[in-house]
Amino acid sequence: MKRTVMLGVGTALPKRVVTNADLEKTVDTTDEWIVQRTGIRQRYIADETETTASLGADAARAALENAGVDAQSIDLIVVATATPDNTFPATAVEIQKRLGIHHGYAFDVAAVCTGFIYALATVDAHLKAGLAKRALVIGAETFSRILDWEDRTTCVLFGDGAGAIVVETQELEEMAPGEGPGVLAVSLRSDGTHKEKLYVDGGPSTTQTVGKLRMEGREVFRHAVGMITDVIKDVCGQTGIAASEIDWLVPHQANRRIIDASAKKLGIDIKNVVVTVDKHGNTSAASVPLALDEAVRDGRVRPGDTLLLEAMGGGFTWGAILLRV
Ligand code: ACO
Repeated sequence: MKRTVMLGVGTALPKRVVTNADLEKTVDTTDEWIVQRTGIRQRYIADETETTASLGADAARAALENAGVDAQSIDLIVVATATPDNTFPATAVEIQKRLGIHHGYAFDVAAVCTGFIYALATVDAHLKAGLAKRALVIGAETFSRILDWEDRTTCVLFGDGAGAIVVETQELEEMAPGEGPGVLAVSLRSDGTHKEKLYVDGGPSTTQTVGKLRMEGREVFRHAVGMITDVIKDVCGQTGIAASEIDWLVPHQANRRIIDASAKKLGIDIKNVVVTVDKHGNTSAASVPLALDEAVRDGRVRPGDTLLLEAMGGGFTWGAILLRV
């Protein structure tokens, strides 16, 4: 049987750190309000030389190095982003060029904060179908470019960055869904009726502008925990692995309160949850690989560990993946 196995992980962050105290100087907000409501203490904000593609390419290089494989062995690149460098070509193709790869194929997926989960699920399906052998899955965003810096209810929440993993298809002996390495189970969902709660008020086909992010924060919050726990129950049900048995929950990093409430509802000890929202803010599709990278590099995630990746975001979209490293 074929399994999609992770070989390495890497990230890239803009040079500039913006703390809550820095924001207090330009936005009508306080460090206390931001920390209490979200857990965010700082975020990274891209300068004009840093773009979604440049951050994504740097994260990809770091992941290739971590995996110990050459860029030329990659035959598929999927980038999850809601903030592409251009409307087209896809940011994935620009990253392919930056990595000096001229074979295989590359494309973007748009699922906002759930983008990395969708991208990994898509790559898993392509590898299982035999369309490619070794892939880069990248989440890269420059949300600072679509924020309304006059809107304190949203601009304090987001940051920029990129994370990437290298995966390859491996032929393994037949085993039960919950056994062995690699992607064990996937659950993806979306429901477009929630559009008005979280969206960007522009686009090429409507306003011919990029637009700004708009969010009814309370409404998003109200739906988040239930949606996250539903997809987690789904992947656990597919594998027979209880949520409380997983080694690490690597959640989308939108808000500390959503993370804590989801873990509690699922009976996951907070000691087993990777939290980086304090350092990165909400980096949308980049947040899961940014958190994963930190836990791999500081030695928390060890070979053989079972990871539960989950996210929820604009659309609404939501999803979860069980992955054994
Ligand atoms: N600084 C100070 N005060 C603020 C700020 C700010 N930055 N923003 C809002 N306030 C004020 C409001 O004006 C309001 O004041 P009022 O009572 O005088 O009217 C008060 O704080 C409370 O505002 P609420 O919006 O009700 O605050 P809430 O407790 O809901 O927290 C928050 C807001 C943090 C956005 C919360 O709703 C949340 O986290 N929602 C989920 C959002 C999320 O996770 N989105 C991302 C998921 S999808 C994706 O990742 C793209």
